[in-house]
Amino acid sequence: MPLTVVVGGFFGDCGKGKIISHLALRDKVKIVARGGVGPNAGHTVIHEGVAYRLRQIPSGFIQQGARLLIGPGVLVSPGILLEEVKLTNTRDRLGLDRQVGIIEEKHIDEDTKSAYLKKRIGTTGTGCGPAQQERAKRTLKVGQEVDVLKDFLTDVPLEINEALEKERNILLEGTQGTYLSLYHGTYPYVTSKDITASAICADVGVGPKRVDDVVVVFKAYVTRVGGGPLENELSEKEAKRKGWYEIATVTRRVRRSAPFNFDLARRAIMLNSGTKIALTKLDVVFPKDRAKTKWVELSAEARKFVARVEEEIKTPVAFIGTGPGSHQIIDRTIV
Ligand code: IMP
Ligand code: MG
Repeated sequence: MPLTVVVGGFFGDCGKGKIISHLALRDKVKIVARGGVGPNAGHTVIHEGVAYRLRQIPSGFIQQGARLLIGPGVLVSPGILLEEVKLTNTRDRLGLDRQVGIIEEKHIDEDTKSAYLKKRIGTTGTGCGPAQQERAKRTLKVGQEVDVLKDFLTDVPLEINEALEKERNILLEGTQGTYLSLYHGTYPYVTSKDITASAICADVGVGPKRVDDVVVVFKAYVTRVGGGPLENELSEKEAKRKGWYEIATVTRRVRRSAPFNFDLARRAIMLNSGTKIALTKLDVVFPKDRAKTKWVELSAEARKFVARVEEEIKTPVAFIGTGPGSHQIIDRTIV
């Protein structure tokens, strides 16, 4: 803090929503701004017994009064956004940049009907790729051309940079994970944009010198949905046996899974200049560590795994997720 960027380390679905909600509450942030691609992401926040599955509204919304911003680099599906505004009751504190890209029905059609995108790449079918394509052609609609969004429009880079001048705590929320980056991922099995920390900053109009902390979120095992390579991939049977079998938030597809990949993690820290690691779902790998909130309470096996991550990746594991709730976390930065 004041400016922390949170990004995913592997292939998305790493529990960013949970880490962001913890940081938003802990630091009483003034702004949570969303970078990344768009509604292809699904971030889960579980707070006070209620589960929110968000695709557009920043996961830090649970911090009461925090301003919620969506940067000009992000794509918006107006229907999904308005539904989430209702669900989260955040109409009075949400701001959209005038130049957010707009996903229309035709983009969704193209994404779901194209054999290449849907079958070979295995996209989420949410229209993000085709909308990005149009943006590159300079024909995509932007926020200020859409009547139902007019009450939310603002200058997101200006709001964020003015708040930084006042040393306000700000969180930038990324989407997906490093190896789904258009440039740094497993091309062509990637999303339609770069989504590393630098790209998230560019999406909301913040320059590199402003960033204080980059938290890279890794799940304690690796999952990916859609096509593309996955080293040491488990069979569905083995994934079920280990409890790593998951269904995707947005597409309801089965997530493929594999053990934690130290080489990918090391490179993800390099690509994002990560300063801290958040290691999530440790309780899925070590079930007896469920809901622990103190380092000293963790089992010896779990602590050994965390120590190995730190040693091999040369970056501190600052946060450890031990369950889905926003408070089921070990925060090692609090002493
Ligand atoms: P697209 O982003 O919908 O074009 O999909 C491209 C690739 O990225 C596919 O393999 C998707 O499954 C993957 N992908 C996109 N968004 C997410 C996400 O939020 N979590 C996990 N995978 C994603
Ligand atoms: Mg997800």
